[in-house]
Amino acid sequence: MKITTVEFLKSVYPGDEYPLGRYPEVAFAGRSNVGKSSLINTLVNRKGLARTSAVPGKTQSINFYLVNQSLCLVDLPGYGYAKVPQQVRRRWSPLIEEYCRNRKNLCGTVVIIDARIGPTPLDLSLIAWLKTLSMPAIITITKVDKLSKNKIVKALHQTAQTLAISPEGIIPFSAHTGDGKKDLWQKIVHLLNISKKCAPP
Ligand code: GTP
Ligand code: MG
Repeated sequence: MKITTVEFLKSVYPGDEYPLGRYPEVAFAGRSNVGKSSLINTLVNRKGLARTSAVPGKTQSINFYLVNQSLCLVDLPGYGYAKVPQQVRRRWSPLIEEYCRNRKNLCGTVVIIDARIGPTPLDLSLIAWLKTLSMPAIITITKVDKLSKNKIVKALHQTAQTLAISPEGIIPFSAHTGDGKKDLWQKIVHLLNISKKCAPP
């Protein structure tokens, strides 16, 4: 994917209005600190676009980024970080849930899993829930720069087994090296092309 323009559109907190749903959207979901914001930055070749942090719980709102004036990448808040105050944590899930359930121009979700950890129970419940919504999910294992080639293959097989899918359906990714970027864009564009909800970019 050739990136010509990237524009931050809006940060949405509970009760805020979403930006107009003019463009097809792809959302990025995963455990807190798994690397969602970094992955988006790598996809669009902009280091500091989505704020990242070594401290979990950085992204606490839904952030919309318009790419090439034709599609929106949506950075969702992370889930499952125990140290965030209960009050803050409680509103994450409804925020994600409301968005995924009701956003008409949402074509699919990229579910990001830590390659070193594999799918957690929360990842599994998210994937199962997206299925009930008939929401396509692209599965990615990230931070593969921290693993040897053998361990990446192992992680792919273990994740595939847990999710009962083929390992070929999972994209190994690294925000640091850019590994998997081309494959992930290919899957995203394919998803937009087959989506009946919105026009392709
Ligand atoms: P929240 O917004 O808190 O949910 O986190 P996030 O999922 O957006 O994670 P973020 O992109 O902020 O990254 C979290 C930490 O992981 C940062 O310290 C990143 O530098 C690091 N990180 C992200 N992606 C990678 C990767 O591919 N490889 C390595 N080695 N580190 C990564
Ligand atoms: Mg983030």
